[in-house]
Amino acid sequence: MSVRRSFSLVLGFAFLWSDVAPGEVQSAVNAADLPEGPGRSSVAEVCGACHPLGQALGKRLSRAEWAAMVEQMVGRGAPLAPEEFDPVVDYLTAWYGTGG
Ligand code: HEC
Repeated sequence: MSVRRSFSLVLGFAFLWSDVAPGEVQSAVNAADLPEGPGRSSVAEVCGACHPLGQALGKRLSRAEWAAMVEQMVGRGAPLAPEEFDPVVDYLTAWYGTGG
């Protein structure tokens, strides 16, 4: 006897993904502008490689959201060593967090 279940599970990745409007002004952020702290050098080296740093740091996210975001960037090929993951997420949360 077989019960056939047809499950169609669509995992929607509903990260806070905002569209970047063409021509949108990105404030220029240089690595030298980054506040001091653990994880800073990784952020400076890694996060400006594929898009402007200002785009990477233009959001205010919670820790969980930054963790998901950084994970996604790693999935896209960001060269972040596993041991750099936590410091980077901590750094982003501390300086670019939601403050809560
Ligand atoms: C291997 C390339 C790559 C690296 C390295 C990378 N990203 Fe990204 N990132 C992307 C791509 C591709 C997108 C989506 C396309 C876009 O918005 O330009 C994106 C988008 C983003 C967005 C969303 C931007 C928006 O306006 O919606 C954030 C935030 C972000 N990245 C943060 C980071 C952070 C933080 C790091 C460093 C840990 C990082 N990225 C490193 C490829 C990369």
